Amino acid sequence: MRHADHEIDPSFLHRFSPRAMSGEDLPASEAMRLLEAARWAPSSGNGQPWRFVYALRGTEAFDALLGTLVEANRVWCIRAGAFVLVTSATALPDGRPIASHAFDSGAAWMSLALQGSKMGLVVHAMAGFDQDAARRVAAVPADHAVHCVVAVGRPGRVEDLPEKLRPREEPSGRNPVSSFAFEGRFPA
Ligand SMILES: Cc1cc2nc3c(=O)[nH]c(=O)nc-3n(C[C@H](O)[C@H](O)[C@H](O)COP(=O)(O)O)c2cc1C
Repeated sequence: MRHADHEIDPSFLHRFSPRAMSGEDLPASEAMRLLEAARWAPSSGNGQPWRFVYALRGTEAFDALLGTLVEANRVWCIRAGAFVLVTSATALPDGRPIASHAFDSGAAWMSLALQGSKMGLVVHAMAGFDQDAARRVAAVPADHAVHCVVAVGRPGRVEDLPEKLRPREEPSGRNPVSSFAFEGRFPA
């Protein structure tokens, strides 16, 4: 059970990253709702540098992204309903770099994650994948950064997970605010 030390909207505590998914398809309309939430994220100069490649279960693109995952992720992602590859444009059309591309895309991913949580979906980001392979299968342009693959699906049975993952199907804790937020300046 998660507890906030200071009062916040419960949606922040309810979101977590389960692994148990049902293997059902995710309708395209639901994928669109997640992407719509991401759309409204803030970004530097409203530049919106995030770029998502989504793939629905049952398609070649889904199988291709599944194939880029490390084995430890693939074992539970076989029951995902969709994948979303999060990338971002690193430069403007005139070649000037976008300094905030990763920060902005992080905000967009979190919007997607919170929307999914509100819809009762599993939404689980992964850095455990072969970035070059993902770039290849999703045709990500060279001037775009590849960040993570997000698994999305309907909740499934914990018993269907490999045994060692079952105890991890619980919301995790967090460091206290005092460990990462400092008034005025970093502590000496
Ligand atoms: C960028 C990023 C990469 C992650 N990579 C993986 C991964 O490869 N495999 C995995 O099982 N979880 C992965 N996670 C999930 C984190 O372990 C999880 O978000 C963290 O433990 C906090 O737990 P919570 O999301 O349930 O609150 C990743 C999360 C993020 C944001």
